[in-house]
Amino acid sequence: MKSVLGYETVDYDRESHGLVIVDQTKLPGRVEFLSLCSPREIWDAIYNLKVRGAPAIGVAAAYGLAALGWRIKADTAADFMMQLAGHREYLCSARPTAVNLSWALNRVYRACESLLGQELDQARDMQEEEKILRLRKALLAEADRMKEEDIGICQRIGEHGLGLLKRGDGILTHCNAGQLATCRYGTATAPIYLGQERGYGFHVYADETRPLLQGARLTAFELQSAGVDVTLICDSMAASLMAGGKIQAVLVGCDRVAANGDTANKIGTSMLAVAASHYHVPFYVCAPLSTIDWDTATGKDIEIEERPGEEVTQMWFRQPMCPSGVKVYNPAFDVTDHSLIKGFVTELGVFSSPGEIPGQPCYYSRSM
Ligand code: MRU
Repeated sequence: MKSVLGYETVDYDRESHGLVIVDQTKLPGRVEFLSLCSPREIWDAIYNLKVRGAPAIGVAAAYGLAALGWRIKADTAADFMMQLAGHREYLCSARPTAVNLSWALNRVYRACESLLGQELDQARDMQEEEKILRLRKALLAEADRMKEEDIGICQRIGEHGLGLLKRGDGILTHCNAGQLATCRYGTATAPIYLGQERGYGFHVYADETRPLLQGARLTAFELQSAGVDVTLICDSMAASLMAGGKIQAVLVGCDRVAANGDTANKIGTSMLAVAASHYHVPFYVCAPLSTIDWDTATGKDIEIEERPGEEVTQMWFRQPMCPSGVKVYNPAFDVTDHSLIKGFVTELGVFSSPGEIPGQPCYYSRSM
């Protein structure tokens, strides 16, 4: 599959040792790259959605930890690991709902732990400085692996998802689960891009996704760049399109799937799922296995990020769109009940619930 944008969503500068991202808050107007090296800069980029989307956040955090590892001043490998653990916890606090953040940070951290436990502790003659260098390289190598894996995972999600669709289908998507939310191809958009290459002639409807407009700013941008037939709608228009027979499938991404299949995704997703169920439109969640949180039993246990009210009242407007001082409630995600989800499109195939996925929990457990 071809990459739809001529640049990487998440990358690493091997000379300056910095996390490199496209600043998504500037899209679609400007394509601006940031190279981030300090804990505060990396935390801020994640919190302020300069890099966003669960898989992209995960890989960005992994590269971020690698960049910080390069700057740790330590006399011993043990001290290095202690400081690294502090950075891991700090970055992990940037956003609570996307489970890929903690999953990715723990994975790169554990790569160092196991190198230390298995090899470096036994190497009696090795200088501490050399051990620290090995740990730094291990961090970066693991982050590179995660990026490559994510690209392959999205391709496989594309193949499995395309099998659910027919030529000429109308597809509704919400928020941005596209190339900009992953390392390439996206999750919900991967079947769309693959279908585009194979001449399926899909008609895609992108919800603008209030309040932060990821659908309008990012999904419409990347689908249009790829030549996909995309139409932007306001979130409130989705049910009327379903009623009019324009939508044959809803494809969304997700930030965390609980063990019972309840799914947290961008606010507004559950409303779509309810409407889709009413109009008998199949509703699919596209997700890498790393987004399934086996340690969380149901959607009630998922922490939902709450964001500043200004995002609703004025962030994208020339002037405030409400009376000054009005109370605002701004949850960034909602939970779709598992009963409304027709299938989970993963790298291993399509499953009607997480419990059907073969051989999972131990690898994906993410306790620190
Ligand atoms: O707040 P955001 O923009 O990070 O929210 C992103 C989403 O809700 C996506 O649908 C989700 O992360 C899946 S990305 C493949």
